[in-house]
Amino acid sequence: QTMATSSSDRRLHHVESGSGRMQRLNAVVLGESIASEEDELVFPSEGFSEQALVSSHVQMYKRSIEDPAGFWSEIASEFYWKTKWGEEVFTENLDVRKGKITIEWFKGATTNVCYNALDRNIEAGNGGKIAIQWEGNEPGHDAQLTYSELLEKVCQLSNYLKDIGIRKGDAVVIYMPMLMELPIAMLACARIGAVHSVVFAGFSTESLAQRIVDCKPKAVITCNAVRRGTKVIQLKDIVDYALVESAKNGVLVGACLTYENPSAMKREETKWQDGRDIWWQDVVPKYSTTCEVEWMDAEDPLFLLYTSGSTGKPKGVLHTIGGYMIYTATTFKYAFDYKSSDIYWCTADCGWITGHSYVTYGPLLNGATVVVFEGAPTYPDYGRCWDIVDKFKVTILYTAPTLVRSLMRSGDEYVTRYSRKSLRILGSVGEPINPSAWRWLFNVVGDSRCPISDTWWQTETGGFLITPLPGAWPQKPGSATFPFFGVQPAIVDEKGNELEGECSGYLCIKNSWPGAFRTLYGDHERYETTYFKPFTGYYFSGDGCRRDKDGYYWLTGRVDDVMNVSGHRIGTAEVESALVSHPQCAEAAVVGVEHEVKGQGIYAFVTLVDGVSYSQELRKSLVLAVRHQIGAFAAPDRIHWAPGLPKTRSGKIMRRILRKIASRQLDELGDTSTLADPSVVDQLIALSDF
Ligand code: PRX
Repeated sequence: QTMATSSSDRRLHHVESGSGRMQRLNAVVLGESIASEEDELVFPSEGFSEQALVSSHVQMYKRSIEDPAGFWSEIASEFYWKTKWGEEVFTENLDVRKGKITIEWFKGATTNVCYNALDRNIEAGNGGKIAIQWEGNEPGHDAQLTYSELLEKVCQLSNYLKDIGIRKGDAVVIYMPMLMELPIAMLACARIGAVHSVVFAGFSTESLAQRIVDCKPKAVITCNAVRRGTKVIQLKDIVDYALVESAKNGVLVGACLTYENPSAMKREETKWQDGRDIWWQDVVPKYSTTCEVEWMDAEDPLFLLYTSGSTGKPKGVLHTIGGYMIYTATTFKYAFDYKSSDIYWCTADCGWITGHSYVTYGPLLNGATVVVFEGAPTYPDYGRCWDIVDKFKVTILYTAPTLVRSLMRSGDEYVTRYSRKSLRILGSVGEPINPSAWRWLFNVVGDSRCPISDTWWQTETGGFLITPLPGAWPQKPGSATFPFFGVQPAIVDEKGNELEGECSGYLCIKNSWPGAFRTLYGDHERYETTYFKPFTGYYFSGDGCRRDKDGYYWLTGRVDDVMNVSGHRIGTAEVESALVSHPQCAEAAVVGVEHEVKGQGIYAFVTLVDGVSYSQELRKSLVLAVRHQIGAFAAPDRIHWAPGLPKTRSGKIMRRILRKIASRQLDELGDTSTLADPSVVDQLIALSDF
């Protein structure tokens, strides 16, 4: 691993804030100016490094690569295992030529994630420590649970689930807002060996139904409604329709446990189906506050989480127990330099992988105090985040570039009005953080003293793969820096040749790590085809990446047909299939375009059925179709009427050309002569109202 230690690489360190204020950073000044963003190094302060868990990473990284079994089993030994693993800590085959792709860690050992997150921490004397600090949508509305209280709530729900017949290996779908009951439900499943599948509560009824049909849960856990900002979202209605839809597809769900959220909706107003629907508050509190743990094999499934790929059908990413537990706990600890006095807040929703690994599992496994926020980060105003930071004295704040950019536009005064002096580490996830957003976060939010952990990872990876270790090395604004312990990245060219040194290409990983997903639920073949066949011998991430002369990694975004909109992963094919479900849409092609706040916006080219004419109303109803099919977060930003789409003679849509038209780079259209009908391009340009 190349480290940026040569003094000639160190350059001037003035970092410009969003408001144009210049601040001197704690850095070595040698050169005249910053040659490029790649030359800009931001050093942790000496005080910070002295206190950091890892101040010199090189030895530890080397060991993790040379002896992964020893490295990870030593870490795993800090956790509770009912029975230990045998000789073989892990087995892996990432090469399709050698047969079935398999990844197994700690197989044969038995443990329980819930036990390790709760009981183990309580036994260590932390029962009275706050586990979850909840903040409601309305300022002033809050609640908290200590580790002991959390365990009691989890046990009650576990007992209830067992009582209605849920057993080890059964699936449970959770469709809930960010109430404490969401992590409680996840942990209750984990305790009894049920496999949870959390569906983000912003997904539409169709998307929810699709997931229910795929994983066939024995129960659905939901909430009647939620208030986000000024809006009330009636989740139970969405679940009702999804259950009807699932039943039509042969999947009958026997129980719908519904949490009453009185601040959003009264129970009397909630639609109800006797026999199937049960109020959480009516049954769960009656159960015992202790519940025996189901000891699970390390390779038993922990959860399924659906994510988007390049076809319309979402993929059920499957994570198993032992490796995921060790990996989320360890990445959390080191990437956030976690100390027991920290108050940690991750703004992600538990409906996404970030909420699984870094709201629920990683932090609780470390015995941390976690802030869980129900509301919208800009309600009642743009200062809400900093209000929460000051209120709970948050020390580690983990958020997304899209939120950073939206707060940055609203003006520094919303930030500087609050003290924020408790903050010591900032984190970023979901998409590449552009250097100007990085600088604003660093300078304005963190007062130029908090390192930023720009963590690169994916639903599939379970935890961070490329991330700074705060205090261990200088940062470069916009770079996720270096691989985490045990991770060996490879940047490959189109033919799969590994590139050395400074280079750009496709980001792959050469080896397995404990938190890697093991399969796509019910479709191991798709798992192999999508991730292990594109570049033989490697896990292919789907991301482009550049490595600079100092060995820093710069993620450049997806190279497949997946968009990243406000950090949400959305397949172009999913939006296309939602559009063509509209009776007046004959064909659609969707591309991602640069968007100032969202990172990427959704740009849809739509061909109408013969005889239908363009109208503003039709635009709106097409957008509505996507909101209904997927969810509001996937609504296209632009609909571009397309009499025809640029296709090759074999009928393949040339997205490269569409991307150029969508981003107005008309002089970069490239060769259009291979198109079946090159005049389509001129028609498209003529029809774009710019
Ligand atoms: O393109 C990368 C981007 O998000 C994708 C993974 O999306 P998802 O599975 O929904 O997980 C999001 C939270 C981990 C990646 O393929 N991505 C995520 N984090 C970063 C990132 N791109 C650049 N820098 C990051 N820190």
